[in-house]
Amino acid sequence: MISSSEYDRRRRDLMSLMAEDSIAIITAAPERTRSRDTHFPFRQDSDFQYLTGFPEPEAALVLIPGREQGEFVLFCRDRDPAREIWDGYRAGPAGACERYGADDAFPIGDIDEILPGLLEDKQRVYYAVGKDQEFDRHLTGWINDIRSRARTGASPPAEFVDLDHLLHEMRLFKSAGELKLMRESASISARAHCRAMGACRPGLREYQLQAEIEHEFAMAGASFPAYSSIVGAGANGCILHYVENGGSLRDGELVLIDAGCEYQGYAADITRTFPVNGRFSPEQGALYQIVLDAQLEAIGRVRANGYWNDAHDATVEVITRGLAQLGLLKGSVPELVESGAYREFYMHRAGHWLGMDVHDVGAYKVDHSWRLLEPGMVMTVEPGIYVAPDNPRVAKKWRGIGIRIEDDVAITSAGVEVLTSGVPKEIKDIERLMAG
Ligand code: GLY
Ligand code: MN
Ligand code: MN
Repeated sequence: MISSSEYDRRRRDLMSLMAEDSIAIITAAPERTRSRDTHFPFRQDSDFQYLTGFPEPEAALVLIPGREQGEFVLFCRDRDPAREIWDGYRAGPAGACERYGADDAFPIGDIDEILPGLLEDKQRVYYAVGKDQEFDRHLTGWINDIRSRARTGASPPAEFVDLDHLLHEMRLFKSAGELKLMRESASISARAHCRAMGACRPGLREYQLQAEIEHEFAMAGASFPAYSSIVGAGANGCILHYVENGGSLRDGELVLIDAGCEYQGYAADITRTFPVNGRFSPEQGALYQIVLDAQLEAIGRVRANGYWNDAHDATVEVITRGLAQLGLLKGSVPELVESGAYREFYMHRAGHWLGMDVHDVGAYKVDHSWRLLEPGMVMTVEPGIYVAPDNPRVAKKWRGIGIRIEDDVAITSAGVEVLTSGVPKEIKDIERLMAG
């Protein structure tokens, strides 16, 4: 669990980056309707969660550096015994102070009366405009309210600044406490992939492997999959975001599983591809080995002070060379890299930041150049080869093979830590696990 002192440190760090005479406003996620009067499971907004740990909807965090009556102000739902019988426990403003460390807390219903007073005479408002359109409208209303009182000496903020730049740069660097949770999320997810490999056999359906995976997540107390689990057998493995998961697992085909859990707010993101019958065919093995070589080469290039793009470039080189050797690409390797010919088979990038969000926040470029990696960053490395089932330019034996291998890598001062090493990826290790 993230400790209350860590939440406190995050708020202090953010406030230390804010300009003088400023205020930051961050809203909780809304509840979303799934069907008529039922909702999707509630998932807190990552920025709000990062700064408060407060798990309820209908809440707003206000940070006011230097405010005498307290810098950390929380608006939240009032206690309501009748509603709590139906919908569950609410902290209420008193609980927000006692258990979440707010200096001052108010019922969310009072925000119209209170927030204009907090905004008044502030120079700068840090706020993510456009993320919550309903709240945008309220905020505009409060600003107009202050403007309308200009004759009484009230002055509205002069500047709106996007909060994301400050906050997302903080979130990009994981603390020791966050890395501990990410290790746990990764190891639960690795166990889940091992379970699916062990359970796989011809005749099952894709959703049955999804159930094996998500069973392991749930049994470990991981609240959700971090994204919709992808289980694609045969040519379905060539659809990058395939989530139908209704197809059959056929003898002689591969199955690609891209699935990771969210554990205490932190995502894992793992892909493994393995043969439904437990043995790679020569063609499957040949393409698989290229993807694995590309992934290992890329992980070998991830290090502090290396460039974000080094891993991607490594995967492009190894995949292009491998495809040329097998005859799927024709021409010289440097020219094929230069022309982007590999994109017919490898059409995505090699990875992304990972954290509270599966595609986590943080800039990839600084001043228009790929940024340097630093300890505390966590990223995925996930090359793939996908041969479309109807690709007329390659021999039939290659068609409909889709392969991706994805691991989660933390950058440390000593090198890298592969968080997801608990699930095999060498051909012989996968075949051994599936045979046993
Ligand atoms: N599972 C989404 C991704 O790998 O980026
Ligand atoms: Mn990924
Ligand atoms: Mn993935």
